[in-house]
Amino acid sequence: MTRHALSYADWSGAEYRSVARSLLGGRVRQGRASAQLALRLDADYAPSRAYALNYAHTGLALALAAFKRRRPQRNVVLVPAYICPSVVSTISACGLQAQPVAVGDDLNLDMRALREALGQAPLALVAPHMFACPLPIDEIETQCRAAEVFLVDDAAQVAGVRHQGRLLGTFGDVGLLSFAQSKTIVTGIRGSGGVLLVNEPSLDDELGAACAALPPSPGRLAALLEFCWNYLWADRTGASGDHLERLLDTLGLRPADAGEVQARISNLDAGIALAQWPRLEGIIAARRTVAAHYHAALQEQDAIRFPQFAPGRYLARVMLLLPEGSDLAACRTQLRRQGIQSRLGYRIPFPDQAATRHAQALASRLLGMPSGADISAEDTRDICQHLSQALSDFHSKV
Ligand SMILES: Cc1ncc(COP(=O)(O)O)c(C=O)c1O
Repeated sequence: MTRHALSYADWSGAEYRSVARSLLGGRVRQGRASAQLALRLDADYAPSRAYALNYAHTGLALALAAFKRRRPQRNVVLVPAYICPSVVSTISACGLQAQPVAVGDDLNLDMRALREALGQAPLALVAPHMFACPLPIDEIETQCRAAEVFLVDDAAQVAGVRHQGRLLGTFGDVGLLSFAQSKTIVTGIRGSGGVLLVNEPSLDDELGAACAALPPSPGRLAALLEFCWNYLWADRTGASGDHLERLLDTLGLRPADAGEVQARISNLDAGIALAQWPRLEGIIAARRTVAAHYHAALQEQDAIRFPQFAPGRYLARVMLLLPEGSDLAACRTQLRRQGIQSRLGYRIPFPDQAATRHAQALASRLLGMPSGADISAEDTRDICQHLSQALSDFHSKV
């Protein structure tokens, strides 16, 4: 029995209706929705140009290749030490070297460490707003321009949030959005969507042509079924995901490498994104409220911190910081027994070094808590009390 489940997406009837239209019309890979999504994104993100792809990191790979052609003597791409590992593997796959920059307690780039790293003539900086916690991206844009370093405004986890009146994702040379699970707009898993925003006009001909040359994404039906089964309906389907995988394999619906290809967004996923877009403000408002509930609930607990919280701030996930020395695995087991799901954050995708030390220390204490739109103030009090109890049980045993 799960009382408080993690939420990976906030779907309404509109998303399911869009799926039905694509399936019944036989338009899973190609169709009108892709073109309509492109128009919607171009309108919302103007004057940036928007290209809807299968992943955010497909767009990152195309952008890095374009940067490299312009400054072939540079090889290093700066990233925060706390980062989604697919960003680092994309940089390596482009033949470039990802260099970690220290982060602060909010899991975002530490500005002092960044200033120093920019002085070493890297090719580019990938600057994510981690879990939607906003960076001072205007200041970073100014610094990157002065240092002649390409800037990727990585808004993979945020859509529809502004900084200094400009949408996150529109700063620097290019921006990224992702539509994968646990982001702001969610269409599915494994290549369900991402956007390359081209903010620097002189890059647009080249990047626009590179995006247009990609095929539409394959293998979407199986990914959709797995997403619904293992994420959206997990409360009802429980641990039966293996059965579904075997069935999809038997039917030949799961090409092994479909998730890894570079592609444009499929018509199916574009339709889902379009169906969700009108609710974007509501999704953001609901998450702001949940974050505020956690903040209030934690006023009764001294030991647990919520380092990314600020009043009125949208966060894509609620990541709590437990006291030093906490046993995350033991806490999670105890929470699970109480019907409360939790998750770890990212593993640090770099060997131990000075720049990664603080990120590693934070990662070993961070726990993601249920933060879907259905989580009430009372739920957050219940969750935080159980978490506090799990911590004190652990400390009384040590
Ligand atoms: C900050 C950040 N950037 C980029 C990505 C890559 O997104 P995608 O999986 O759509 O390539 C992610 C994915 O989690 C992310 O969190």
